[in-house]
Amino acid sequence: MPTTSLDLRADILRLKKERNAIILAHNYQTGDIQDIADYVGDSLGLAYQAQETDADVIAFCGVHFMAETAKIVNPNKTVILPDKDAGCSLEESCPADELEKYLKENADKNYYVIAYINCSAGVKALCDVICTSGNAVKIVNKAPADRPILFVPDANLGAWVMEQTGRKMDLWKGACYVHVEFTRNSISKIKEEYPDALVVAHPECTTAVRLLADEVCSTEKMVDFCKNTPVKNIIVVTESGMLHRLQKEAPDKNLIPGPTDHCACNDCKFMKMNTLQKLHACLDTLEPQVILPEDVRQRAEAPLLRMLEQSK
Ligand code: 13P
Ligand code: SF4
Repeated sequence: MPTTSLDLRADILRLKKERNAIILAHNYQTGDIQDIADYVGDSLGLAYQAQETDADVIAFCGVHFMAETAKIVNPNKTVILPDKDAGCSLEESCPADELEKYLKENADKNYYVIAYINCSAGVKALCDVICTSGNAVKIVNKAPADRPILFVPDANLGAWVMEQTGRKMDLWKGACYVHVEFTRNSISKIKEEYPDALVVAHPECTTAVRLLADEVCSTEKMVDFCKNTPVKNIIVVTESGMLHRLQKEAPDKNLIPGPTDHCACNDCKFMKMNTLQKLHACLDTLEPQVILPEDVRQRAEAPLLRMLEQSK
């Protein structure tokens, strides 16, 4: 086992080559993981990367549903993740059996079901199309006009998409435990400290927080926003890992983490379960792996491919 972080990095690169692996990392991963990854991005960019890679092994540094998404489009590849317990509060808020029951009870409505990608493969398998925060507006705009939409599981993202598209939707009552911690009070206070700053917020934030933002967008679009605005001070209202990516891509900007009422910034405990050591271990042992029942995988693949096609 390597003893220094330099050895660890070198050994991860050695194992990556031996396994013909690709390392994909979400924007919320710690800086050391982002820096060793082949690609760092949002859920949409990561799904495209997973679809396009010709590596034999995908080491997915993010949360479980993201690694599962990579497996759905790559049944014959080995998909590993540093920590199998890296879940997501949105995924937890919508168990597949509850959604199935709800859809049966409301069969007369003939819902067109749109699932935010932050959900299990079992939930994806029950939906018509998937979306991410980066393409939700586009996907909802392409939904059939003659059917009511059920949007699961994030009610905050759903509310934002309704505002953007003017399309009414029934919303599942899920939420991201990280983004609901930002409040009108905490963001107003930091704005008072930096009166000339712009505010960029993730659409998983509550409406009260979104109303204080100059831009609401996915994590990847935050990179473009920070790079392109001429304004120097930017308050970034999302998970703290985002700051590492933004600092690298927009080094001339003063990036201020959005605070909560208790803390100067906010971490996702699930995203932060992954470490460089665990990444090394999973490349070494090829465990833990994402394994999916083939029938669920196939049913989840159709709405996922529909999304990838519709958001091009
Ligand atoms: P993005 O797709 O915008 O990166 O969002 C993923 C996520 O989990 C946000 O909490
Ligand atoms: Fe899930 Fe929220 Fe963590 Fe994103 S930040 S992975 S939505 S719990």
